[in-house]
Amino acid sequence: MSSFLIAPSILSADFARLGDDVAKVLAAGADVVHFDVMDNHFVPNLTFGPMVCQSLRDYGIKAEIDVHLMVKPVDALVPAFAKAGADIITFHPEGSDHIDRTLQLIKDSGCKAGLVFNPATPLHYLDYVMDKLDVILLMSVNPGFGGQSFIPGTLDKLRQVREKIDQSGRDIRLEIDGGVKVENIAEIAAAGADMFVAGSAIFSQPDYKTVIDQMRAELAT
Ligand code: DX5
Ligand code: ZN
Repeated sequence: MSSFLIAPSILSADFARLGDDVAKVLAAGADVVHFDVMDNHFVPNLTFGPMVCQSLRDYGIKAEIDVHLMVKPVDALVPAFAKAGADIITFHPEGSDHIDRTLQLIKDSGCKAGLVFNPATPLHYLDYVMDKLDVILLMSVNPGFGGQSFIPGTLDKLRQVREKIDQSGRDIRLEIDGGVKVENIAEIAAAGADMFVAGSAIFSQPDYKTVIDQMRAELAT
């Protein structure tokens, strides 16, 4: 496995041909499918749930599915997504009344667990749950929509989290989500990220492989 993971956000995929589009982006070299779940409550938009995840599995999608829950409350969806084929489940601390319990629920469901931090959400939650985390996801836009611009202050936050991960000595992925493009991916990697969500940058282009190859070339420099 590459040390850098590219995770296209299917929020920007063609929903009318979702199975084909996901298969196409994986064939183009993507590592992970990023699955953005929005509830029109925690965020002002509405997407898809466990049934769509199950449909991708039934269609034959074998890659890891990284479920990003932008919902409140979180817990009822955890077993549903685990059953529907999720591999990673991440959620926002503001979406759960009992963060430690939700993390444990994800792990007990057989999935990797992660916490997501909005641009203005403080990192102090990490002080108490580092031992339960497989992934830390930093939002570099306010969640709810694809196609927004990367918030530059996230670079400093990435460096802080990278330090915490290194100090912990644990194998925790540092994922970044929002406004990631060929033009900024190298700078984001230099700040410590090793898993890159990209929606519009990939799906807006006719040839997904060209964009993914360009991202990997930037990561190799
Ligand atoms: C935003 C979502 C992101 C989003 C990324 O709420 O969590 O995954 O789709 O889209 P781009 O790459 O277009 O910023
Ligand atoms: Zn996301």
